[in-house]
Amino acid sequence: MGYDKIFDLTGQTAVVTGALGKLGPIWLEALLSFGANVFAMDHPDAKSSKRFNSLKDEYGAKRVHLAYADIMNRAALVKALDKCVDNFGIPHILVNNAGIDLPPEPGASYALEDIPEEKFMPALLVNVSGLFQVTQVFGGAMIKQGRGSIINIGSLYASVSPNKALYDHIDCEPPFIKPPAYGASKAAVLNLTRYFATHWGSKGVRVNALSPGGVLGGQDEEFKRKFSERTPLGRLAVAEDLAGPLVFLASSASSYVTGVNLPVEGGYTAW
Ligand SMILES: NC(=O)c1ccc[n+]([C@@H]2O[C@H](COP(=O)([O-])OP(=O)(O)OC[C@H]3O[C@@H](n4cnc5c(N)ncnc54)[C@H](O)[C@@H]3O)[C@@H](O)[C@H]2O)c1
Repeated sequence: MGYDKIFDLTGQTAVVTGALGKLGPIWLEALLSFGANVFAMDHPDAKSSKRFNSLKDEYGAKRVHLAYADIMNRAALVKALDKCVDNFGIPHILVNNAGIDLPPEPGASYALEDIPEEKFMPALLVNVSGLFQVTQVFGGAMIKQGRGSIINIGSLYASVSPNKALYDHIDCEPPFIKPPAYGASKAAVLNLTRYFATHWGSKGVRVNALSPGGVLGGQDEEFKRKFSERTPLGRLAVAEDLAGPLVFLASSASSYVTGVNLPVEGGYTAW
């Protein structure tokens, strides 16, 4: 027996939250390419995306199903799990990708000491409590089967504080600072990753995090220049950079890996 099938996901059921966002279709395409059927989920208010629609057309309804659920709504998650089981069976893979990032908002920048609680809490609630509930509901079904792989999408900013010089060209007063709630929420995601990994290892479910750095997509030129200079590989990530690490964590290629954070950030934290 060789190792040529260790990345194979044929016939497996993968759930991806936040499927209509920027990174969702990257995860979808990676999983579909290696044979998984994908139960894609997003918020009821999320708009369908071109990239998602073209994947749906390419792979068809037998391989891709889209369901809407707010990850803060437990009843909606339970319903979504039922729908997933009806369509594709009990999930083998869960990609906890849905989250709130906080890009610069014209006219709404704050000095660190003035950030109001209502601006701080949403990212914590969705990125931590929402992810926790999805993991309980979908992961709960996986442990009953005694198998599965959960991948939590973290961030570079789970591990380091954002360098404010990367943002100081943005025209606003007070200067834009990457909101502290974002990194705090992602650091919590890494801890939950370890928590679930230690509890569910004996139940056959592995739980890991994948933490992208900057991913190319809509950033201004000055940000891209500064971020690339600051990164040993000299550029932001593209889809191909993320697909392999995801399939590695999803598949039996990582069968003895659990509780880790896999940084996919071009070496940003190496110096
Ligand atoms: N894009 C990047 O450069 C980058 C870098 C590092 C980490 N990440 C992380 O990757 C993940 C995806 O990022 P993205 O760039 O695609 O963001 P995005 O904003 O484009 O997509 C996020 C998706 O999550 C969904 N979502 C938000 N709140 C939800 C809720 N309550 N219930 C259900 N769905 C909800 C949104 O509708 C959206 O489709 C996030 O967790 C983000 O923090 C992104």
